[in-house]
Amino acid sequence: MDLKYLNLRSVISMADSNRTSRRTFLKTTAMAGLGASVLPGFDAAASLPLLNSVKSAGPVVISSRNGQQTVLKALELIRSGSDALDAVVAGVNLVEEDPNDTSVGYGGLPNEDGVVQLDSCVMHGPTCRAGGVAAIEGIMYPSRVAKLVLERTDHVLLVAEGAVRFAKMHGFPIENLLTERARLEWVKWKEGLSNKDDYLPPHGPDDKNIGQNIEPPEMHYGTIHCSAIDLAGNISGVTTTSGLSYKIPGRVGDSPIIGAGCYVDNLVGAAGSTGRGEANLENLCSFMIVERMRMGDSPQQACLNVCERVADHTKVAHLLDDQGRPNFGLNFYALSVDGRVGGAGMWGSNGSFAVADSNGSRLEPMAYLYKR
Ligand code: GLY
Repeated sequence: MDLKYLNLRSVISMADSNRTSRRTFLKTTAMAGLGASVLPGFDAAASLPLLNSVKSAGPVVISSRNGQQTVLKALELIRSGSDALDAVVAGVNLVEEDPNDTSVGYGGLPNEDGVVQLDSCVMHGPTCRAGGVAAIEGIMYPSRVAKLVLERTDHVLLVAEGAVRFAKMHGFPIENLLTERARLEWVKWKEGLSNKDDYLPPHGPDDKNIGQNIEPPEMHYGTIHCSAIDLAGNISGVTTTSGLSYKIPGRVGDSPIIGAGCYVDNLVGAAGSTGRGEANLENLCSFMIVERMRMGDSPQQACLNVCERVADHTKVAHLLDDQGRPNFGLNFYALSVDGRVGGAGMWGSNGSFAVADSNGSRLEPMAYLYKR
């Protein structure tokens, strides 16, 4: 049977039933219809005739869990006619300006010098264009600058001082993004780093082992990802972060890198990530998730399969637990062109991600490769 004559939804639901049957399905159809490799690999061209005929299920917005207001804002804008890219950027702006989210924008935990350095990228499905900024300082809305890189340059990625100059040229004010809460966490981190340097945490005159009872500082990779389908059926995505807390100045994570922190294909869907950026950078997971959806994975299956790939590719001892499993967190979120959503992560038990669509807004459960 030729794949072209199958209805995509039935193909996907066949493929969804479980991983084993998906592999069998791909193997069978690839052999019978395409005369191609038996491997469940990425044969994009073979899928395109199918995917061209897919119609979106209406506006849908997904986000990491910290985007519960983000998805509502983006959906409201889409319903009033916004392009998905404008809507997702406006949605994550709420978190970028929120001093209480210490993983994104204003209020984000700083680098080891106490400076908040931000990363972001956007991708616009209908034009296949992307923009990003990395290690940008003093700009509260890096996602807006990333969108301007897409719209007003012939480049994809601007970094550090050049990205700041570009933002200033477009009228962005330079602001102090270090909140008092983030500064105090950074001081706690710096003072607790070593008992061989001259920084001392708070102590009394009789303390011999200074700092032994101090609570560890807040630390994380953080981030928000949001992607959406608009009224025209077009898909866009954005990811924005303050990155790894207390990072080496200049460290860039996955969030501003297209294919890692975010990827969109208007014929297939979108994917994005939060968590340990280094593992994502070494595997280009968002691109891989979209390619897996192109080949028939559901959004959740694609996210889980990519977690498995990252686990397979994690080889060095300091990143493995005593059972040989990755010892870090990494989460993925995916949206398919026909409106299905999914999320999966390396470790967890009852995590969730945010969704807003015609059924209202809600948290959906994440799937995990390893339970804790
Ligand atoms: N995922 C955020 C980072 O690693 O910077």
